[in-house]
Amino acid sequence: MKKIVITIDGYSSCGKSTLARQLARQLNYVYIDSGAMYRAITLYFIYNGVQWEQPEAVAAALSNIELEFLPNDQTGFSEIHLNGENVEHQIREMLVADKVSDVAAIGAVRSFAVAQQQKMGIHKGIIMDGRDIGTTVFPLAELKIFMTADTAIRVERRFRELFANNPLITIQEVKENLERRDYIDTNRAISPLRKAEDAIVLDNSNLTMDEQLVLAMQWVEDILLLQSS
Ligand code: CDP
Ligand code: CDP
Repeated sequence: MKKIVITIDGYSSCGKSTLARQLARQLNYVYIDSGAMYRAITLYFIYNGVQWEQPEAVAAALSNIELEFLPNDQTGFSEIHLNGENVEHQIREMLVADKVSDVAAIGAVRSFAVAQQQKMGIHKGIIMDGRDIGTTVFPLAELKIFMTADTAIRVERRFRELFANNPLITIQEVKENLERRDYIDTNRAISPLRKAEDAIVLDNSNLTMDEQLVLAMQWVEDILLLQSS
């Protein structure tokens, strides 16, 4: 059967990667978490004291960064490696979450990431989630989903995830981080978070994971049917 490209964009913690993984499993597609790339670049900048307000410093740092997605043997899903090291867990920490939207707003950082993301989609059969995947990375994708959920629900979801590893984290801290990132991501000059004109909106505030999968699979099947007719 012909393979398609599926993009999932939306606000932080609304369930994009959960849905992307569900679809990848059902369809046997590759799942790529584009946010992990921006997080890994941010981790590198922090650890190496890169002054990211200075374009020369950013260019020099990017020339030393190699990102690679390699499958986890247990889950089968790809995990991000920064210069050969698996940083999948480190990039989820608040230290990175606090700075990632500032770093992701830099033009040179976006060009660096987008070029690699576009290469990953050449053979289709890919699901990528992020903020600009349907608008900038794969504007011709066959299925574009724009996900959203009520802020309080998103905060609660992300708090639960982070609390499991860090019992000192507060709900207020998570809320502030989410709101700040959503603001920067929506208002930046380059590739701001926007619903692509041809994207389908999925508000999963009151949907279980199973229900969101059923909906999205219906959209996929409709497109595949249309393509084969
Ligand atoms: O998991 P969560 O939704 O909180 O964020 P993420 O997908 O890991 O993305 C982290 C940050 O990277 C976002 O807040 C954006 O600033 C940036 N990002 C982006 O600019 N473009 C993308 N395609 C993906 C992420
Ligand atoms: O990728 P994104 O930041 O948009 O969110 P995620 O990491 O996929 O989901 C954030 C949390 O919401 C996860 O712990 C999911 O299990 C949970 N979730 C949920 O409770 N109900 C849904 N319908 C979707 C996700």
